Amino acid sequence: MADKHEATQVRKADAASIAAAATLLRCGELVALPTETVYGLAARADRAEAVAAIYRAKGRPDFNPLIVHVPNLAAAEQLAIVDERARALAQAFWPGALTLVLPLCPAAGIAPAVTAGLPTIALRCPAHPVMRAVLAATGLPLAAPSANRSGGVSPTTAAHVVASLGPAVPLVLDGGACAAGIESTIVALRDSGAWQVLRPGPITQAQISAILGTEPDAVTSVSIEAPGQLASHYAPGKPVRLTAVSAEADEFMIGFGAIGGDITLSSAGDLAEAAARLYAALHQAAESDCPRIAIAPIPDEGIGGAINDRLRRAAA
Ligand code: TXA
Ligand code: MG
Repeated sequence: MADKHEATQVRKADAASIAAAATLLRCGELVALPTETVYGLAARADRAEAVAAIYRAKGRPDFNPLIVHVPNLAAAEQLAIVDERARALAQAFWPGALTLVLPLCPAAGIAPAVTAGLPTIALRCPAHPVMRAVLAATGLPLAAPSANRSGGVSPTTAAHVVASLGPAVPLVLDGGACAAGIESTIVALRDSGAWQVLRPGPITQAQISAILGTEPDAVTSVSIEAPGQLASHYAPGKPVRLTAVSAEADEFMIGFGAIGGDITLSSAGDLAEAAARLYAALHQAAESDCPRIAIAPIPDEGIGGAINDRLRRAAA
């Protein structure tokens, strides 16, 4: 369905465009903007119509809750019950690529659609200077899922956002390519004292364990509680073959390390570089003339675990 915006404005993120973004957001409009992980599609989290516009623009099922972005721990404490485990993780990793699922404060004033009716809320304090400037300028908690059509490959550039969402978003702040390139690690802290990684990401389970001093509960990455983790997510729209050592004739090959290809995630075999390039590579493969995609094996260590999680979903 055509939206009320005739065209998407892409503006270089500077003081003037950040101020314009804050004005739009305060008025309940959507703005796409960079974070250190992927581009987000932001709306004020305290207003139902603004949040509804996110679901509409993404074509996102309304049972899939959104992450709320806050400028600091004090702002998080207005929205959720922050216990000493949450405080320790926030101190260790915020601002940064860690999302905490915590008990929602009933008086938080968050639109119910944000949490999709769950008694918990997902909170992240982002590190990207543009996202931080927008949070400061609005003074509002901002709901922001990845700025792509639901189920598609996440955007790591402003061009990816425009290609995926088009006129559904009036303003895209262009802050260049995202440094981490993979969505935040989501950790749920349970009242029982147990914890789980709901989505692997740039911060590894081992790093979380080291702060909490305990091992996680049984893995629930397929749980309906994090429906964003459904198997069909991150789909580039073509068959994807994993752990390929060479390309077949009709395949667009994405290499890694010693295994080359049409493009490479990292010829040096650097996993952080591979994560940063992953979604751009999938976008490029999707746009190529080849009907199929092949991807070289990625070691499962460190952030490689999160890369392989996304690749399995892209191939599903
Ligand atoms: O890096 C990121 O986290 C990016 C940037 C923009 O911040 N955001 C992002 O949002 O990846 P999104 O909407 O694409 O993914 C949100 C994930 C989904 O898997 C959703 O199910 C989960 O967070 N989630 C949100 N609230 C939750 C809750 N209360 N309990 C469990 N999972 C939750
Ligand atoms: Mg997403």
